[in-house]
Amino acid sequence: MNQTEILKKIEKLTREYFSGAPQPEFVPGKTVIPLSVCSYGWEEAYEAIESILTTWVTMGRKVKAFEEMVARYMGVTHAAMVNSGSSANLLAMSVLANPLAPERIKPGDEVITPAVTFATTVYPIIQVGAVPVLVDVDVATFHIKVDAIEKAITRKTRAILPVHLVGNPCDMTAVMEIARRKSLLVIEDACEATGAEIGGKKVGSFGDLGTYSFFFTHHITTIEGGMVVTGNDDLAELVKSLRVFGWIRDLRNKDEIAGKYRDIDARFLFTNIGYNFRPTEVSGAFGMHQIGKLDGFIEIRRQNARYWAERLREFSDYLVIYEERPGTKYAWYGYPVTVRTEAPFTREELRNFLGSRGLETRPIFAGNIDEQPGLRLFPYRKSGDLPDARFVQRQSFFFGNHQGIGEAEREAVVKYFREFMAGVKKR
Ligand SMILES: Cc1ncc(COP(=O)(O)O)c(C=O)c1O
Repeated sequence: MNQTEILKKIEKLTREYFSGAPQPEFVPGKTVIPLSVCSYGWEEAYEAIESILTTWVTMGRKVKAFEEMVARYMGVTHAAMVNSGSSANLLAMSVLANPLAPERIKPGDEVITPAVTFATTVYPIIQVGAVPVLVDVDVATFHIKVDAIEKAITRKTRAILPVHLVGNPCDMTAVMEIARRKSLLVIEDACEATGAEIGGKKVGSFGDLGTYSFFFTHHITTIEGGMVVTGNDDLAELVKSLRVFGWIRDLRNKDEIAGKYRDIDARFLFTNIGYNFRPTEVSGAFGMHQIGKLDGFIEIRRQNARYWAERLREFSDYLVIYEERPGTKYAWYGYPVTVRTEAPFTREELRNFLGSRGLETRPIFAGNIDEQPGLRLFPYRKSGDLPDARFVQRQSFFFGNHQGIGEAEREAVVKYFREFMAGVKKR
């Protein structure tokens, strides 16, 4: 067999390997309902194997193809892949803090962001020498409170970094209106919300820069991976430069730039200070196949969420019920639950009961970041007391909502809540 024939055989075997995966029967109360499931199949696995066997493993045509697909899907002009969502956030902040940025965030400038988010939303603000300003969140959505943004603005404010937490789109119309009125930059952290929409427009495409994560547990995966998107040509050039060392290889006018530095080998000409955030071609290979599956995955999550919201509403005296807001499309990273203070049970009692039935749960990401010891090592400011962020830290959690959840699992979740509530009544 020649190499092409061997590849064909591997393709066939990879397909067979995945189609032969056993589908264990779901047993309510026994089978674990995990927070996330693997979202890739034989196509991604084979595409990755093909890269490895042919030794085309560093960032190349598959990464580029994936970037073009993401740009088209998100309705933006530029998309640059990186090795994680955290890198995407650090790259986005670094671009806006760079001396070549059209409107630069300078050391000591303030960036407004929600108090409830993931750690690496906030860290990059500090890493570029700016000061995070934590703003309270709305318990009904987990999003930054729009009126609290206005109150947090000072002479030092340069940017707003809203987060589409748990897959649910923030009120970007209001955020963009404030940003325009106050001349602020906007970086959207859409790492938990790939594919979510507001009025038919994808989250991540509203601000100056948007970021996504393709970590294994997210809506779609490239194992590890992330993306920075923008509609701004100048920012896109900085993204591409800072992504790889600050060199010129991926820049539009690289020949013109090289012409100015004839004593330096153009392949090793560094015109800025950057990182190595390159993804591998294996990640690009995954992405090329994952992006086409995204809408289908999100649709399953939306159906699950609708089903749960309708049935859990009977417990709305005790629980905050989360539903899609009109005019938006939620991507539902998970299905969140918040236990009201009036409830005659604690969040931990509910979580422990659900856990005993096999339903995995976890906190809302890093919770109230103001309470995390890591952040306290560095200067930051909080706008007000953040009572609702503290409430979410103590009263909220989420369980899995993904394409691995079928009818049986969906029904079982409701049954577990009903069993728990019946036990509470008998007390
Ligand atoms: C809101 C948010 N931002 C950033 C990240 C970082 O993404 P990654 O895990 O790909 O570094 C995450 C990760 O889950 C996240 O939830």
